[in-house]
Amino acid sequence: MDWKNDIEKLFNTIIELSPEGFRDSIKPMLRDAAEKTARLRNSGFVSKDDLLSALFDITPDAFQPAVVNDLNQIGIDTDRYIKLSDIRKKYSRTWDEISGAFKPGVYHFTMYITDRCNQNCLHCAASVMENRPELSFDTWIQIIENIEQTLRARGRRACFIWFGGEPTIRKDLPELIKYCGEKGYYQAVATNGILFDEELAKLCAEVKMSHVFISLDSTKPERAAKIRGHPKAYESAIKAIKLAKKYGLFTLGNATIQQENKDELEELQKLYDSLGVIPYFRAVIKKRSADKNWEKIGLDFDEFKEFYKFKYRNVVDAIRGGNATSINKFYTWDMVPFMETPINDEERAALEWGVGCQACRSISGIDINGDFYPCDYPSELILGNILEDGLEKIMESEMFKKIRDRNVKGKCANCHHLELCGGGCRIHAENETGDFLSESPYCWHQMDHQHNTTEKSED
Ligand SMILES: C[S@@+](CC[C@H](N)C(=O)[O-])C[C@H]1O[C@@H](n2cnc3c(N)ncnc32)[C@H](O)[C@@H]1O
Ligand code: SF4
Ligand code: SF4
Repeated sequence: MDWKNDIEKLFNTIIELSPEGFRDSIKPMLRDAAEKTARLRNSGFVSKDDLLSALFDITPDAFQPAVVNDLNQIGIDTDRYIKLSDIRKKYSRTWDEISGAFKPGVYHFTMYITDRCNQNCLHCAASVMENRPELSFDTWIQIIENIEQTLRARGRRACFIWFGGEPTIRKDLPELIKYCGEKGYYQAVATNGILFDEELAKLCAEVKMSHVFISLDSTKPERAAKIRGHPKAYESAIKAIKLAKKYGLFTLGNATIQQENKDELEELQKLYDSLGVIPYFRAVIKKRSADKNWEKIGLDFDEFKEFYKFKYRNVVDAIRGGNATSINKFYTWDMVPFMETPINDEERAALEWGVGCQACRSISGIDINGDFYPCDYPSELILGNILEDGLEKIMESEMFKKIRDRNVKGKCANCHHLELCGGGCRIHAENETGDFLSESPYCWHQMDHQHNTTEKSED
């Protein structure tokens, strides 16, 4: 965890203000608590908000008036930080109740265990059908252990998402799932549903799998078949969703939004709601098959904008309606431009949980040969190889930190939304410009205004 100079200075001032006899014990306690609150934001550095809200986390009630008095002397708005500390506790508890894998600081990895697939989607960005050699079961266990143990040493945990290609095609997927289940590691599976049968659903429930993603791109069977190049795409997804629900699994519906289904957002949302599934809408990324079929399936600038507005209307309404939970993460996870301005700390705490680019913060991917993708989706940029370098070295690399800290270039660099937005989807940016850190190519924001933070705003 990084500490910038001004925060370190404030930390030392707070320690000096505390009673001399307590300083030695407060110092490590406050440092740990500040890092823990930074992780609530999936951040790699401690901010002033983290430090001061953590101070109130660790201060017993009887000592609070003295701390308030000390901080007022150095001009700090103590009321705000007392409230912020309560808000953050409230949100972490809510997410905790839903599932451990969504606890602050849990880092989700897509595990590209195979290139093989039993569908042929118009938009597929994965290296399906390339049939590159697969790593053995033992090598994946080595990777899992390296990731899990490295994160634990940093006070974090991993969530392994079985991915591909179609992960259910691998015969040893149940063994990988059992291994993680026995170890108590967080895990999930992303599937098109064809091979997601009763036995697999039961196994996922028995090992207390955190969640399952099932792809369903249309409410219309013929459209789903066309998108996925498979006559039973719709039926297979519905069957899989019903099985997942039968076994009480936390289920997310993956819909990749493209020309064919861009007019179905409301209907898809209704269908997902009726099935008890959380929607995870994602705009099509121009990569591999999607690149080849772009003329037919791609979205233009205005269509991206319309899609983003739909996505955010849902999440912001949910937060403003008092329904903030880990669900936000899936409503928002597309790392798209984000221009809402929170009107208070409660909204900010809910939003910073999931909005903006999460690459190298709470999501990354491991390709079929161990290559490390900064995002969960494939990119040209590789940050090393997990088998050769190990996670610790990759997380300490300059590029990892640049992505984590959202050092985005161009118009994003000076944008007043960068902190929450993170510069939109980095994979989109790389596809269009060749540079993973370039400004977002699909953003309509103009830096021609200021925001009054007490008013709702959308651009
Ligand atoms: C790569 S697939 C792997 C798991 C499984 N085969 C499936 O289809 O669910 C995971 C998700 O990524 C989505 N996806 C694939 N290519 C994409 C692209 N170019 N843009 C956005 N999402 C994409 C798929 O539609 C699917 O929902
Ligand atoms: S999106 Fe999934 S089901 Fe479709 S081709 Fe790609 S890996 Fe296969
Ligand atoms: S200019 Fe960049 S940082 Fe600003 S809202 Fe757009 S994508 Fe986000």
